[in-house]
Amino acid sequence: MSAGIKDTSTQTRTDVTAKRRRNFPSSLLFPAFIPLLLYFLYLLSSPPDFDTSMLLPRPDAPKNALIVTAHPDDEAMFFSPTILALTRNGWNVSGLCLSNGNAEGLGDQREKELYASYNLLGVPSSNVEIINDPALQDGMQRAWMPSDAGKYVYRRLDIEPFSVVIKFDKYGISGHINHRAASLACSPVNWPFLITTRKVKVWAVRTPSLLEKYMGPLPAIYHLVHTRIADTEKGREVLRLLRLDRKEGAWRKVEVINGLERWWTGIEAMREHKTQLVWFRWIWLGVGSLQWTNTLIEAW
Ligand SMILES: *[C@@H]1O[C@H](CO)[C@@H](O)[C@H](O)[C@H]1NC(C)=O
Repeated sequence: MSAGIKDTSTQTRTDVTAKRRRNFPSSLLFPAFIPLLLYFLYLLSSPPDFDTSMLLPRPDAPKNALIVTAHPDDEAMFFSPTILALTRNGWNVSGLCLSNGNAEGLGDQREKELYASYNLLGVPSSNVEIINDPALQDGMQRAWMPSDAGKYVYRRLDIEPFSVVIKFDKYGISGHINHRAASLACSPVNWPFLITTRKVKVWAVRTPSLLEKYMGPLPAIYHLVHTRIADTEKGREVLRLLRLDRKEGAWRKVEVINGLERWWTGIEAMREHKTQLVWFRWIWLGVGSLQWTNTLIEAW
């Protein structure tokens, strides 16, 4: 008897599925998307590199960059397109991480994870500095004084020939107060002469809108298609008509894009942060647009 009931229900389900299939001719549209998907994959397989020397304060400045983050894993979660574009183009990249991420008492382990992650991104451990200062501890409730954090940035810029600093913008991508403080720490209030003498230029990774943040590779694809169209006079005209042309703002902007291979390298760097790979971070890695693209904005 119970077997009979089971059979009926299976049959009903099959019927419903079959009916749904018959009533859904739009599924025929799917094959039409395949060429488009292949085209997107083609675009993402070999995106052209931008001319990284445009980040320099002057053309003859040394290609040394300092990445300033707040916690171990920020570099892999938010900065991988920028770090990879620099290291793959022969830059000497260094990392300054302002805390060891000890919010859950895992600081020691997270330091090791940070070195491993940076190594995958092309930065040797000897170029990575991790600060563990009682005034700069990891936590949503732990406010950092800009001067406490800023002195570590200045200490590096003062003695080493850095030309470029890469930092969070003032919203800190996820809005974490430590990210925002790390951004403020790079404000040149205490070293304006490094800016005025064109020794150092500061670039910030723009915080994408909430929607854009979770669109995976779509923003990257949009920029790649846009660049292709803007390559021709006709294309530029069309973009102007559609009001999609890039306007010159007060600040310079650069789109930095990870192709498939670099995207995967970024994921592998994140996988080194084993203490951080809880389920929701996997979702972030799957749908996050910052694994594919960074918009760098000239900050100083
Ligand atoms: C790269 O940068 C690090 C950190 O500033 C420095 O110690 C090292 O000498 C630099 N290497 C080269 C080849 O410039």
